[in-house]
Amino acid sequence: MSREIVCSGIRPTGNLHLGNYFGALRNFVKMQEAHDCFFFIADYHSLTTHPTPDNLYNNARQILVQYLAAGLDPDKATIYLQSDLPETVELYLFFNMNAYLGELERVTSFKDKVRQQPNNVNAGLLTYPTLMAADILIHKATKVPVGKDQEQHLEMTRTFANRFNNMYKHEVFPLPQAFNFGSDLVKIPGLDGSGKMGKSEGEMNAIFLNDDPAAIKKKIMKAKTDLGPTEMNQEKPVEIANLFTLLSVVSTPDTVAYFDDLYNRCQIRYGDLKKQLVEDMVKFTQPFRERIAELSSDESYLRRVMDQGKEKAHESARRTIEEVRHVIGYRN
Ligand code: TRP
Repeated sequence: MSREIVCSGIRPTGNLHLGNYFGALRNFVKMQEAHDCFFFIADYHSLTTHPTPDNLYNNARQILVQYLAAGLDPDKATIYLQSDLPETVELYLFFNMNAYLGELERVTSFKDKVRQQPNNVNAGLLTYPTLMAADILIHKATKVPVGKDQEQHLEMTRTFANRFNNMYKHEVFPLPQAFNFGSDLVKIPGLDGSGKMGKSEGEMNAIFLNDDPAAIKKKIMKAKTDLGPTEMNQEKPVEIANLFTLLSVVSTPDTVAYFDDLYNRCQIRYGDLKKQLVEDMVKFTQPFRERIAELSSDESYLRRVMDQGKEKAHESARRTIEEVRHVIGYRN
């Protein structure tokens, strides 16, 4: 694929877990090698649900630390805080002028939020898609790596881009497409024997990149298992299959094959499997833990990363906003 302009927003919501890592995060790290990437922490969007947040900056900083620890490189990608790029807000205003109440009200995420927070159905919530369009189009991004849940927002982004181009009779904006990771997206199961790893299922369900070895041990040893196989080569129930999946991402193929064979011969002891999983999980997460600890205490480095990101993002945004102001007809 030729070089693309890639843009993605990251919600500043707490600690990253293994599921995040094997989902988007690891792919962001790969993408920064081949494309012009803009990754930002969506700390404006936070206000749509939390108008008076506690620790706004600290949450953003914590997420930044974890993305850097996982391998995002400020010299390769442009990594910045959304709130450091007020040009976004100007573009948001222009998109809002041409966004219609009906289409905004029909957005699924808006309808969900109306149900979730009936006492705070604010205009920011309604215009979430125009802000997201501004985030993306301020850099004229062509590719947006997002999950299924964001596809409708991306569709709206194309609508606003296309409408702007038509209204002002200039091809200012590209029509950005979803960047699909396809088979590079590894779905990581949680420890509770159900579906995917996530923190909404409870702290015990997820392994966080900054969990200490004791926490990892506790979580894995408590993971759900069954009474064990009773027939040779029997299919694994979902909670056992989950443990094998986790093992397969942090252990060697030999180790997986070893326990698989024991399972198939009905000789597996889950305690042993778990011990191995703890050991390999601790090893796997070790570099993240160290890097997170290191970065967290290096305020001056973090400031430098943020300033550098702000500078680079501004450079890109300024060009777009000048063009936008020009085609609308403002003084320049
Ligand atoms: N809406 C995205 C989410 O909930 C976050 C986001 C905000 C975003 N602006 C964006 C993602 C721009 C991609 C591009 O995950």
